[in-house]
Amino acid sequence: MSSIIEETVAKAVGRWGALKASISGLEGIFPRLAAEHDELALLMGRAEMTSDPQKRAELWAKIKPFVQRHERCEKVVLYAEPSIATFEGVDDLHVEETERIWALLEPVEQAPFESAQWEASFKQFQDLVLIHARHEEALFIRMQELIGAQRARELEDVYLKQVFQA
Ligand SMILES: [Fe+2]
Repeated sequence: MSSIIEETVAKAVGRWGALKASISGLEGIFPRLAAEHDELALLMGRAEMTSDPQKRAELWAKIKPFVQRHERCEKVVLYAEPSIATFEGVDDLHVEETERIWALLEPVEQAPFESAQWEASFKQFQDLVLIHARHEEALFIRMQELIGAQRARELEDVYLKQVFQA
């Protein structure tokens, strides 16, 4: 797939994620984050499917900063929100799980793109990111109840500003 088509598909998948989230009653920052999870899942799925080292390198050059930016911005915007910061289970989600994800960056980066080692390390990274995203999404409704729909909409703007500055 050409990278232009790939980006178009990724954006369409992202919009679909946002739509799914809005059907479930989520607003503002929550559909935005769900859409990013779906875009990321698609990029990782493409990297998993290709055995072309150059394609893997190109995709990894997008995936790594995407995950880092998403997690960093989420942390300073969503998880810093007082009622969410003290919410039970958030530390597991946003401290322990993300630390495990960061620990998997190195093995992926150290393996040559054409190696079986890269494939195995990338798969571990991908699985953990997907599990983390599902855990998070399972708590979005509860988080929205805690902060309210109005605040969820405000936080989307704050999140986007963070993303543009990152
Ligand atoms: Fe997330």
